[in-house]
Amino acid sequence: MTKKLLCVGGARPNFMKLAPLVRELGNRPRFQPLLVHTGQHYDDRMSGAFFRDLGMPDPAHFLEVGSGSHAVQTAEIMKRIEPVCESERPAAVIVVGDVNSTVAAALVAAKMGIPVVHVEAGLRSFDRGMPEEINRLVTDSISDLLLVTEESGKRNLLKEGAPESRVVVVGNLMIDSLVANLEQARARPALTDATGKYGVVTLHRPANVDSPEQFSAILQALDEISQTLPIYFPVHPRTRARLSGTLSPGIRLLEPLGYLDFLSLMSRASVVLTDSGGIQEETTALGIPCLTLRENTERPITIDEGTNRLAGTSTEGILAAWKEHLREPKVGRIPAFWDGRAASRCADALESFLFT
Ligand code: UD1
Repeated sequence: MTKKLLCVGGARPNFMKLAPLVRELGNRPRFQPLLVHTGQHYDDRMSGAFFRDLGMPDPAHFLEVGSGSHAVQTAEIMKRIEPVCESERPAAVIVVGDVNSTVAAALVAAKMGIPVVHVEAGLRSFDRGMPEEINRLVTDSISDLLLVTEESGKRNLLKEGAPESRVVVVGNLMIDSLVANLEQARARPALTDATGKYGVVTLHRPANVDSPEQFSAILQALDEISQTLPIYFPVHPRTRARLSGTLSPGIRLLEPLGYLDFLSLMSRASVVLTDSGGIQEETTALGIPCLTLRENTERPITIDEGTNRLAGTSTEGILAAWKEHLREPKVGRIPAFWDGRAASRCADALESFLFT
């Protein structure tokens, strides 16, 4: 019998994980995947552009929740997804990543007795000041099947008491999208007027951009770096709302980019500075040095095996990491199962979970 699977996402970093998964599940006769878009992100540049670039089908359900405080956004998603679960009665609800849409859908499904599958389970920054850490802890604690991108995720889950039979290391769906689209992205005309090397910056974490002092400490470091290396900075809407004053001419601001344009920009960069989780992974897969503008990471494999370095968030810390990078750019290796075939391993794990 075909099993209906609700695949839920809502924010930009969810879409590159859902695209390969929904495609793979749709190719398996035992599954009927139904895409649910919560509408947490809604601007074309944060959502529609990703659907087009990734060749995703229109969602079966679009919940249009929009922005709000964490409580309002999470509650709205819960209110609007409950009737969808009631009418569709899926065999499982699949959630990805660590955004508010992830935890909201997981809570609703778990309380309705619908099995919850969390893709990208077990990652821990051990920093509960990060909203995503709360989302990860809650989602994992109520999930029935925990699909993991790196060994640290499995270790964390087992330490927290998850039964080993429910934890499967499947690899990284985001890298499936990267592998599938890299050639196409590289064939795009360059987005920059750079004639030589350049760096790319992204920043959107509330801890980095919401406080003017913190934001300006980071900008000061970027300013100094941009004296010797031009920096391209696609600006997230949260960050755009907080940018004021003039930046050094070496920092070129761009609108948020679609998936292929960003991949094209990033794949030609000599270094990336970011506070994103996904970009730490993508740079490791591309072999491009990454300086992470945070005090911690929930993705330690990008440091242990990949090209990532923690730079912190102070001006001095970032500049020290920058100098270290100039002295010795990190050369990493690609972690196990970050090979473009994670969707197939997710689908295999779902078949064993739902049919045996
Ligand atoms: C969310 C996720 C974060 C993820 C990030 C990727 C949570 C708690 N956070 O953060 O984990 O890394 O997405 O981008 O789920 N806005 C727009 N257009 C949009 C969406 C948002 O203008 O399409 C603006 C709104 O002013 C909104 C603000 O950006 O208030 C922040 O959006 P929100 O979804 O609350 O959080 P993000 O910072 O995007």
